[in-house]
Amino acid sequence: MRLGTPLSPSATRVMLLGAGELGKEVIIALQRLGVEVIAVDRYVNAPGHQVAHRAYVTDMSDRSALHALIEAEKPHLVVPEIEAIATDVLLEIEAAGLAEVIPTARAAHLTMNREGIRRLAAETLGLPTSPYVFADSLDEMRTAAGQLGYPVIVKPVMSSSGKGQSKVDDASQLQAAWDDAARGGRVDKGRVIVEGMIDFDYEITLLTVRALGASGEVETYFCEPVGHLQVKGDYVESWQPQAMSAAALQRAQDIAAAVTGNLGGRGIFGVELFVKGDTVWFSEVSPRPHDTGMVTMATQRQNEFELHARAILGLPVDVSLREAGASAVIYGGMEASGIAFDGVADALRTPGVDLRLFGKPQAFVNRRMGVAFATAADTDEARQRARAAAAAVKPVRA
Ligand SMILES: Nc1ncnc2c1ncn2[C@@H]1O[C@H](COP(=O)(O)OP(=O)(O)O)[C@@H](O)[C@H]1O
Ligand SMILES: [Mg+2]
Repeated sequence: MRLGTPLSPSATRVMLLGAGELGKEVIIALQRLGVEVIAVDRYVNAPGHQVAHRAYVTDMSDRSALHALIEAEKPHLVVPEIEAIATDVLLEIEAAGLAEVIPTARAAHLTMNREGIRRLAAETLGLPTSPYVFADSLDEMRTAAGQLGYPVIVKPVMSSSGKGQSKVDDASQLQAAWDDAARGGRVDKGRVIVEGMIDFDYEITLLTVRALGASGEVETYFCEPVGHLQVKGDYVESWQPQAMSAAALQRAQDIAAAVTGNLGGRGIFGVELFVKGDTVWFSEVSPRPHDTGMVTMATQRQNEFELHARAILGLPVDVSLREAGASAVIYGGMEASGIAFDGVADALRTPGVDLRLFGKPQAFVNRRMGVAFATAADTDEARQRARAAAAAVKPVRA
């Protein structure tokens, strides 16, 4: 792909569907290469809107609105950053040759629903996953849990960041889990996945890049594994590299290669895996940068957003690690709009510390508003520093 001049007839145009903190960084990486960027999100002044050439507020699950916007803007590439998109429109756009969908329309379509990607991984590709059963009612859920054995995890088939997800220890908690899933699911389809618990030692995101190699063919590249800590299904800390046995790392790479190879296209994927000793289970995959991968802004020569930008444009990538590091999330801690942040200077006083504030117009108690990073001689020290830096930043009412 030839790179042009933005806002001119030669422009290379990229449309981001979703313009949160991850999209914002992809846009900045694209801007640095002179790409013309169109950012789309559901609300006004989303983080990515603030750094794009043009910004639209659109409900991307609205088929006709999404179609009309793509027709009007005629981007060369359409880059999904969130899951809640009318992906059948992407399939049409791709089939009609109107734009290239990153990594592929099928990948966006399959991964927006836990059922699509789980059946692909476990049943088509034969990869190890947690045992699972899909259920459409409380009764079916009870049968599924009995079959799998308590405890189980219940998740709406369409949700992310742990929304609507519950751990169920016994039958008395089933009703609450069902209600929670109905409330937390993106589309109340009344369908859930019931999963047996995997008693893992640790979990990782294996950032996997499909990019053009020197041969002109797509090749698969693996970043160093990112370890992370999830609370109620939402990421609070991540670090890189996660130490792994050679056998477990090889297994993780084999699984990631199988899944991303099937999904195809170019771009970065966040492959989520559970690890116990040398045993590795596939959990899920995002065909886009991953929230836990924000740590790469501190640790890698090219961070996950730069890797994505380069891969989708057909440029070469370098996935090498520069130094060990960690990230810790900064939460809103309150419900308010236009908040301010105290303590930023204190946070940045520690050597090796850096941070991002996303510029989200509205804070919620558990909304991710920023992230702190630290590098250090090892990940334990980096985690301590990142946590301290995140804690030093105090959201306040303006
Ligand atoms: N079957 C399972 N066994 C053990 N832990 C799980 C299981 N499923 C999910 N988890 C935990 O919950 C987190 C979020 O689940 P995930 O399926 O990734 O949902 P989301 O799409 O919301 O990120 C995982 O990263 C893991 O910590
Ligand atoms: Mg996940």
